[in-house]
Amino acid sequence: MMAVSFSAATVVGFVLITLLSLSGERVNSEPIQDKQALLAFLSQTPHANRVQWNASVSACTWVGIKCDDNQSYVYSLRLPGVGLVGPVPPNTLGRLTQLRVLSLRSNRLSGPIPADFSNLTLLRSLYLQGNQLSGEFPTGLTQLERLNRLVLSSNNFTGPIPFAVSNLTHLTVLFLENNGFSGKLPNIQAPNLTNFNVSNNKLNGSIPQSLSNFPASAFSGNLDLCGGPLKACNPFFPAPAPSPESPPIIPAHKKSKKLSTAAIVAIAVGSALALFLLLLVLFLCLRKRRRQQPAKAPKPPVATRSVETEAGTSSSKDDITGGSTEAERNKLVFFNGGVYSFDLEDLLRASAEVLGKGSVGTSYKAVLEEGTTVVVKRLKDVVVTKREFEMTMEVLGKIKHDNVVPLRAFYFSKDEKLLVSDYMSAGSLSALLHGSRGSGRTPLDWDNRMKIALSAARGIAHLHVSGKVVHGNIKSSNILLRPDNDASVSDFGLNPLFGTSTPPNRVAGYRAPEVVETRKVTFKSDVYSFGVLLLELLTGKAPNQASLGEEGIDLPRWVQSVVREEWTAEVFDVELMRYHNIEEEMVQLLQIAMACVSTVPDQRPAMQEVVRMIEDMNRAETDDGLRQSSDDPSKGSDGHTPPAGSRTPPSVTPTP
Ligand SMILES: *[C@@H]1O[C@H](CO)[C@@H](O)[C@H](O)[C@H]1NC(C)=O
Ligand SMILES: *[C@@H]1O[C@H](CO)[C@@H](O)[C@H](O)[C@H]1NC(C)=O
Ligand SMILES: *[C@@H]1O[C@H](CO)[C@@H](O)[C@H](O)[C@H]1NC(C)=O
Ligand SMILES: *[C@@H]1O[C@H](CO)[C@@H](O)[C@H](O)[C@H]1NC(C)=O
Ligand SMILES: *[C@@H]1O[C@H](CO)[C@@H](O)[C@H](O)[C@H]1NC(C)=O
Ligand SMILES: *[C@@H]1O[C@H](CO)[C@@H](O)[C@H](O)[C@H]1NC(C)=O
Ligand SMILES: *[C@@H]1O[C@H](CO)[C@@H](O)[C@H](O)[C@H]1NC(C)=O
Ligand SMILES: *[C@@H]1O[C@H](CO)[C@@H](O)[C@H](O)[C@H]1NC(C)=O
Repeated sequence: MMAVSFSAATVVGFVLITLLSLSGERVNSEPIQDKQALLAFLSQTPHANRVQWNASVSACTWVGIKCDDNQSYVYSLRLPGVGLVGPVPPNTLGRLTQLRVLSLRSNRLSGPIPADFSNLTLLRSLYLQGNQLSGEFPTGLTQLERLNRLVLSSNNFTGPIPFAVSNLTHLTVLFLENNGFSGKLPNIQAPNLTNFNVSNNKLNGSIPQSLSNFPASAFSGNLDLCGGPLKACNPFFPAPAPSPESPPIIPAHKKSKKLSTAAIVAIAVGSALALFLLLLVLFLCLRKRRRQQPAKAPKPPVATRSVETEAGTSSSKDDITGGSTEAERNKLVFFNGGVYSFDLEDLLRASAEVLGKGSVGTSYKAVLEEGTTVVVKRLKDVVVTKREFEMTMEVLGKIKHDNVVPLRAFYFSKDEKLLVSDYMSAGSLSALLHGSRGSGRTPLDWDNRMKIALSAARGIAHLHVSGKVVHGNIKSSNILLRPDNDASVSDFGLNPLFGTSTPPNRVAGYRAPEVVETRKVTFKSDVYSFGVLLLELLTGKAPNQASLGEEGIDLPRWVQSVVREEWTAEVFDVELMRYHNIEEEMVQLLQIAMACVSTVPDQRPAMQEVVRMIEDMNRAETDDGLRQSSDDPSKGSDGHTPPAGSRTPPSVTPTP
């Protein structure tokens, strides 16, 4: 009996408590945790007086707050223009995990967006424009996958717009203008994105396909954006007035008449964009037709890309001989074991800057959308047939050596011949040796000059011995460097492609005397050019510049005359005078150089002998044939650095 009444009382008690708590919620309904978070935010953020949140009433009644129908969470927080000042305190707003709308625009908020905003996973709209918020694009925001509207305009944000923004597939509004965002624009794949602006930032690179339909004013005022509605990025295929019978790139095909008309119209309009799109569409059409399958994405699937395998290369050769379409023939052909997987369209979209203009074409540094950087050389005056071109490429593409810049791919069409090779970030010997002489320059020290001499010699010897290829254009701007100053030779073996109007060994100062007459480059003429390069390393003088005093005197003859008539040390680069104990080596290298620049070709050593001679110079000291770095004057102890002034080379000394 006792037990029964006890349990009944317990049941009654339980029900009562439940009823009370239910009615309490209905009467006094408000989200307690959200309220605390809001109070924490406001108490730490200076603001105007009209925002008065009374802690003793429901947060759902506060200025700027809306709760859901059940008043169980804060649905939106809007405090535009209420004089909020300073940083958004962390661990406050980030706790409003049910929030759908957050507007703090037109205040004076500063500092970074707190990382805990990434917890606002249900957020649909975020308006923070017109503040002084700074720091990088908050990566946490890219996790808010339900975001519809993201407005960060007119703040002080810097750094890149992260690629992860493409995770925000529901975006309809993305306004980032008037900030300091830099770097490239990511490919933003939001199908419903209709309002977009990134103007007045510091962006560069190409406008991705997905954004190219927005007007130019959405991109204006950036560092160097191109493509889309702006100027064409791509210098490889500018829109020149095409000859009517063969517009550039567009294959000679049944459609070509119609197409060239279209192209002419496009040019008449003056719109590089139109032509570009046209070409792209054409490419896609041809692809589609060829494969009888829909080409939906602007980037073709990997399988359709040009080939990187043995089988692939031969199949592309079959295309040439077989009766396939011109479009199939005109594709980027990769060499075996290629490390890249882009295609012509990717190259078309790449942003590019001119690296150098040479006698056979212009080189560009091209940054592809996925971030790969390559060098594209656009050849001019190629006289050989496609077949001959391909045979040359086949030989060059096989050459693999640490000290040779690998050729990765080529492209041949009637109007364009392109070579793709690796980009070497440390630049050329020419830039290192002759760039910004004087103020702010780090001189190239002797150990690094020796390293460059030896590695370049090895690269050229490999071309000669294993590749049976004459370099044909050895000069300091074709000696490219890795960050550790290991050198690689580039631009090799191209002479067979050009007519006799292009001088072999194109830069005069490096050209062997017999080449001027025979107009043919040989292994021995390469050795001569390399000798000139060694003299350049030793003297610091550019052979192709008129810095040698007398008109018409070349570097070898200038060195010979100085050595004959004066103290040998006068020829050496004044920048080397700060290093000591190197004179003997400099003289040894000078002797090797002088042997290489012998007037009579037969008196020049073979390239592999040159390598051996340079190696022998130092063999006693280290394994790899190079001396240990010990000549930095800052490490020196004997204080015998020669006075620089007393050894200034003649051309620097004013002759009274
Ligand atoms: C807060 O609300 C309570 C109850 O409505 C009221 O008595 C009190 O005066 C209010 N406080 C302020 C500062 O408005
Ligand atoms: C409000 O609460 C009721 C009952 O607790 C529930 O059925 C309803 O789904 C809730 N509505 C919302 C919008 O959360
Ligand atoms: C997000 O919320 C969880 C739990 O509520 C918390 O542990 C975490 O620290 C929060 N994330 C950030 C970035 O503050
Ligand atoms: C924001 O950038 C503007 C213009 O660059 C500058 O004047 C201002 O001081 C910056 N504000 C902050 C808080 O860094
Ligand atoms: C997109 O979001 C998912 C899940 O949050 C994440 O795993 C993925 O890495 C994100 N993608 C990018 C490009 O950041
Ligand atoms: C785009 O908008 C349509 C219509 O409003 C909608 O049905 C669709 O889900 C949206 N797509 C995305 C990815 O948000
Ligand atoms: C873009 O600018 C950054 C520096 O802000 C630079 O490192 C990068 O090379 C530039 N890219 C291109 C394609 O110009
Ligand atoms: C983008 O923003 C800039 C600066 O606010 C404005 O001048 C331009 O008209 C805007 N363009 C678009 C398409 O919204």
